[in-house]
Amino acid sequence: MSSKPDSRPLSPYMLGPYYRFQITSLLSISGRLTGLFLAVVTLPVALAWLLALAAGPDSFATVKALFSGWCGKAVLLVSMLCLVFHTLNGIRHLAWDTGKGFEMSTVRASGWAVIIGTFLLTALAWWWAS
Ligand code: HEM
Repeated sequence: MSSKPDSRPLSPYMLGPYYRFQITSLLSISGRLTGLFLAVVTLPVALAWLLALAAGPDSFATVKALFSGWCGKAVLLVSMLCLVFHTLNGIRHLAWDTGKGFEMSTVRASGWAVIIGTFLLTALAWWWAS
């Protein structure tokens, strides 16, 4: 009998010291969480802004003041990060739907492109909007 440790793959449910986080699972979870955040926070915020705009200058000034404080700005920044990430990751998913980009090296490269692109585009949009 060999004393070599068993090298069969472990179940991903064995978290903690056994499960190594991978860019594929990280982006898959983030795609879902950002979709949820966009639906529950960003869309209602955009709707409130549009309604205030339609209701007149007083309502608009109130909503504008609300989103000028640090808390409002944090919501806008996270919304922007989520929207850019979800869009880039969504484009990656749509490319997969055409049957392309499934080689592991391409999957990892497109994943990093999504992460780097998210921070670059968000920084650019934030700078442009400020
Ligand atoms: C405010 C706008 C948006 C909202 C509220 C939204 C919301 C969501 C939600 C809730 C999901 C389901 C996540 C899950 O699997 O549980 C989803 C998936 C998806 N979204 Fe969006 N989304 C938005 C914008 C976009 C944009 C602009 C794109 C552009 C490419 C996009 C592409 C996708 C794709 C391809 C999926 C499926 C991903 C998968 O198969 O895992 N979404 N979205």
